[in-house]
Amino acid sequence: MNRLETKYLGLSLKSPVVPSSSPLTRDLDVVRRMEDYGASAIILPSLFEEQIQQEEQQLARFLHSQELGHAEASSFMPIPDDYNSALDNYLDCLSTMKSSLGIPVIASLNGITDEGWIEHAKELELQGADALELNIYYVAANAQESSQQVEARYLRIIKQLKDEVNIPLTVKLPSQLTSVAHFAAQVKDCGASGLSLFNRFYQPDVDISTLNIKPVVKLSQSHESLLRIRWVAILRSQLDIDLAVTGGIHHSDDMAKALLAGADVTHMCSSLLINGTKQITTVLEDFVRWMDEKEYQSVQELKGSLCQKHAIDPSAYERANYLEVLDSYTPPEGVLF
Ligand SMILES: Cc1cc2nc3c(=O)[nH]c(=O)nc-3n(C[C@H](O)[C@H](O)[C@H](O)COP(=O)(O)O)c2cc1C
Repeated sequence: MNRLETKYLGLSLKSPVVPSSSPLTRDLDVVRRMEDYGASAIILPSLFEEQIQQEEQQLARFLHSQELGHAEASSFMPIPDDYNSALDNYLDCLSTMKSSLGIPVIASLNGITDEGWIEHAKELELQGADALELNIYYVAANAQESSQQVEARYLRIIKQLKDEVNIPLTVKLPSQLTSVAHFAAQVKDCGASGLSLFNRFYQPDVDISTLNIKPVVKLSQSHESLLRIRWVAILRSQLDIDLAVTGGIHHSDDMAKALLAGADVTHMCSSLLINGTKQITTVLEDFVRWMDEKEYQSVQELKGSLCQKHAIDPSAYERANYLEVLDSYTPPEGVLF
């Protein structure tokens, strides 16, 4: 048996490394290389609700103008034969990946409303997606909208999506929830088979020379995995659901910690963009060396052995050591004078 084998979303995967949605997973040559380097599945970049809705509006406008016979106006509209929508492009990409790769392909949808776009999930399933990841990238900025309303909308989307498809669904959760564990349980009750912890929100920056606000993509660092690892350890002890860590997995140590805490797989993105896709092999080789050192026979054996329930001090994942941790900090010499 392959020592690195793991199970995620009902799929048998040859290793715990899954490259997550990014421009890297859009390019067939790059993805083929990642497969050779040891990636066990890939998650395509997201298809966005806005893309689907924009096309539906354009098509509706086109059909309307045809009905009215406004030949001049319709000349501004896309011609159906040439009409290659973002959804069509996405389906083409999915189909190419499916026919060219030996590893599972997970499609990704990104949206925040429970409107018509969700129906298109069925097409992803028909095109052969092995599973679906839903990313609800929503900044709850409305002072009139309660956390219950925000969460209820998330759950409606998940339920509707689950009604559309029969393939396994995983949800990329935000970490900014009042009760992560309670919400995770509700997501499971809506039919999700997995959770990806956590969505990484990009922070707008203030340009102090132009006084503009500009969105910036900053790649992650290893320490960001710790937030995810804490929650994986807590959720693994309470919920029977598949868990992926996304955010801050750069080295084999990060992967080992996530799996010990109870993750089924680790997603990689920033590290591959920084170091190149061969980093997958480096991480896996270092990880196997560590397994040998610790005498672990398989990923299956070590998975979850340090989840909250099994940890020597379960309270370490919560508040218990807070005071101790703060007290243990010693400022560098000279700082206090
Ligand atoms: C350039 C770029 C594009 C991304 N595109 C998507 C996307 O389309 N959908 C999505 O769910 N996440 C997307 N992500 C988020 C990553 O999949 C990943 O969850 C996040 O970067 C945290 O993982 P990391 O620390 O390994 O980078 C993107 C990230 C980057 C850097």
